[in-house]
Amino acid sequence: MSSVQISPSILSADFARLADEVSAVPSADWIHVDVMDNHFVPNLTLGLPVVESLAKASPRPLDCHLMIADPDRWAPGYAEAGAGSVTFHVEAAHAPIRLARAIRSAGARAGLALKPATPVEPYEDLLPELDMLLLMTVEPGFGGQKFLDVVLPKIRRARQMIDRHGGSVWLQIDGGVAADTIERCAEAGADVFVAGSAVYGAEDPDAAVRALRAQAEAAGARVA
Ligand code: DX5
Ligand code: ZN
Repeated sequence: MSSVQISPSILSADFARLADEVSAVPSADWIHVDVMDNHFVPNLTLGLPVVESLAKASPRPLDCHLMIADPDRWAPGYAEAGAGSVTFHVEAAHAPIRLARAIRSAGARAGLALKPATPVEPYEDLLPELDMLLLMTVEPGFGGQKFLDVVLPKIRRARQMIDRHGGSVWLQIDGGVAADTIERCAEAGADVFVAGSAVYGAEDPDAAVRALRAQAEAAGARVA
């Protein structure tokens, strides 16, 4: 069985029709929800009340990516609101271990996100506290940006770190993931793929999810 998972980002969906949009991708494993506060990133999207409603309306579990200042204060609330996974940025967190534990206690998977220029090595010892590591392959804040190839060596090193620790932490990639970039990410060792414009910009979003999955599985199998 393949471990590839696809998490379409609703940042590229029609915000006036979110319930329809999350139902349009039944082949997805997760629905990626980008929470932005106009402080940590220069963009503003949605917050707790929308996540709470969407968690009830979505057939797939929510994968909340918090691009917000002071996640120590806010992140556990997203787990309580019904998100299946809550990821916060290490650049914004004051006490990442305490926060990851709080997210898990509130019933969600805990993810740690790194911007493209943040090194992964300092966080190796935190892996047992985490369910997922998110490596950004664009600067966070906007959909539709160009994939940063410069992050690929970090993806490879993160895969090696995770394998050294027993392999139970998922390695998610977010930003510019599309038909022309997903194979490189899978070959480097990623197993959870966020795709916004490549899914919601497609004529048939669910077909795009299936195609991305097939590409990632084939590329992962080549290096396995
Ligand atoms: C960007 C967000 C991404 C975004 C990706 O800061 O974290 O999840 O939706 O969009 P694409 O796939 O279009 O690069
Ligand atoms: Zn995201």
